[in-house]
Amino acid sequence: MKTKKTKRKDKFYKELEEKFAFERELFQNLLDNLPDAVYFKDRKNRLIRVNRFYAEGFSMTPEEILGKTDFHFFPREQAQKMFEDDTYVLTTGNPIIGKIERTLLPNGTNNCVTTTKIPIKNKRGEITGTMGITRDITAYDQIERTRLDMVMSSLKVLDRVLEIRDPYTFGHTRRVSIIAEKIAQDIGWDENKILSLKMSAELHDIGKILIPLEILNKPGKLSELEFKLIQEHVKKCYDMLKPHSFPFPLPETIYQHHERLDGKGYPRGLAGEKIIPEARILAIADVLEAMTFHRPYRAALGIKKAVQELKDNAGLKYDQDMVKITLKIINENNFRPFWMNNEDGAAF
Ligand SMILES: [Fe+2]
Ligand SMILES: [Fe+2]
Repeated sequence: MKTKKTKRKDKFYKELEEKFAFERELFQNLLDNLPDAVYFKDRKNRLIRVNRFYAEGFSMTPEEILGKTDFHFFPREQAQKMFEDDTYVLTTGNPIIGKIERTLLPNGTNNCVTTTKIPIKNKRGEITGTMGITRDITAYDQIERTRLDMVMSSLKVLDRVLEIRDPYTFGHTRRVSIIAEKIAQDIGWDENKILSLKMSAELHDIGKILIPLEILNKPGKLSELEFKLIQEHVKKCYDMLKPHSFPFPLPETIYQHHERLDGKGYPRGLAGEKIIPEARILAIADVLEAMTFHRPYRAALGIKKAVQELKDNAGLKYDQDMVKITLKIINENNFRPFWMNNEDGAAF
């Protein structure tokens, strides 16, 4: 015969159990129906629980996935990046929120995802693992890319029109953009930063549109006044871009593309760290292109002379590390100016 006290205790435990079951059901429902991949990992980055959406992405059951790591599902390089992110969360206790990544799926297609990773802590505040949520944003990414292609195509049309007016200046900007992109890729900049740099390169001499062609392409020595006028293209360009908003320092990059580390550049004589990295890359790409392409007033000086200019002035006019990277790229291309296409004609 149960006493009153035991009955009360039983009732309490029953209610508690029901409450737990309800909470568990809610959690399971959430996991099963969320159209995002949800996963929990232990301190060794092994999956200890995944939701249905995650498992279906790999045509497996959640149980089959347990105990495996990202190295089982993704290409090595990609899995390594994920491992590093997990390790960061585990060791710092800081979350990674909404990181955008492009991943290669086992079926060979690429998708774009946004990932959030947070640390799991026990009652004592110790980190016992990580929890991640990954959302597929491929469709959104494709819309963005189409929009971007449209903008870039418009920019190319503008470039083409300018190139017809002044083939030297605007063929030059297209080629500078190719070189700058390559250097930035080698440094490891992210896509958006590279895109901004490419746009800066495409637009960096647009101010020359306001300078008479007779002066721009004048054969022979320029007078001091003419030289000053040409130098003004930097400020003119900056003034054209400044009123518009850019999420990256695009106008500033262009404003600084003739500055040199030793402070002997123009228009403001900025030196060293005052020159932003984007402008330092642009300066190298600008000189490399200018020296390897013919102008109406002189023949191309050739890639060997351009390389010499960079070597002689690494750390003086140009950023030493960036010069090193540029020379490595040139070497890898066997001194072939990869920034020129057939129409441009190569100048060695
Ligand atoms: Fe310039
Ligand atoms: Fe230029």
